[in-house]
Amino acid sequence: MMRKILVFDSGVGGFSIVNSLENANFAINIDYVADTEFFPYGDKSDLDLLVRIPKIVKLAVEKSQADAVIIACNTASTIALFAIREVLKIPIIGVVPAIKPAAILSKTKTIGLLATPRTIGSAYTDQLIEDFAQNIRVIRYGAPLLARAAESFILGQGLDEIAIKQSIDGLFDHENGHEIDVIVLACTHYPLVGAQLAKLAPKKVQWIDSGDAIAKRAANLLNLGTGKIVKGRAFSSGGEDAKFCEAAIKFGFGNIEKLRVEI
Ligand code: DGL
Repeated sequence: MMRKILVFDSGVGGFSIVNSLENANFAINIDYVADTEFFPYGDKSDLDLLVRIPKIVKLAVEKSQADAVIIACNTASTIALFAIREVLKIPIIGVVPAIKPAAILSKTKTIGLLATPRTIGSAYTDQLIEDFAQNIRVIRYGAPLLARAAESFILGQGLDEIAIKQSIDGLFDHENGHEIDVIVLACTHYPLVGAQLAKLAPKKVQWIDSGDAIAKRAANLLNLGTGKIVKGRAFSSGGEDAKFCEAAIKFGFGNIEKLRVEI
């Protein structure tokens, strides 16, 4: 029987991870859970996220009966991965900033790190930089509006070009910004507006996200064969999120169910 993975994010950001699984041609069932009621995570407190995320992931796993979970959200992973692991016994794959491959790739030894303010300020990110980018200049920018811009874009509500421009400027306006040759998209929402970001960048750089590495990790962990992914159910915590349901159906999920999260 085909294994099932539950992909979790605050909104549609996990779609970029589902795209990577799809492009890798693995045979796998995918369910999806979005905490739309609490979106965006990037401006919430660590404590609120720590209390909420393990509960919602556990609830969704019970409903989905998945064999494994991908926490397709850098913010959730860097803040709450250990707490999620405490409440679930199935394999959990966290999506965290792709600092290691970016550091290896950079010729100028200067990388840009674009993430939510929570991810940028997390101890987990500090540790990744310490472990994998010691001799690298890491220019960080916590983009206050970019996840929201990507979410609205996918929900068909237009593109907030100011948020895109602000994010690019946040990196390149730094005194050493002109040295950046690799940019890490450390929020799963950002690849969904990757082309728009690249268009506004003042020079050609390499863009790195965690999607392909996560697809490989999932394949190894669950011993996946080649084939097609099958998108199944989607869960959302939001009350008024008809737009999310529309986008999830358009993306290929079937049944969208409301999750009642009690905190
Ligand atoms: N997609 C999420 C991430 O990777 C978070 C976006 C948000 O809710 O702020 O960080």
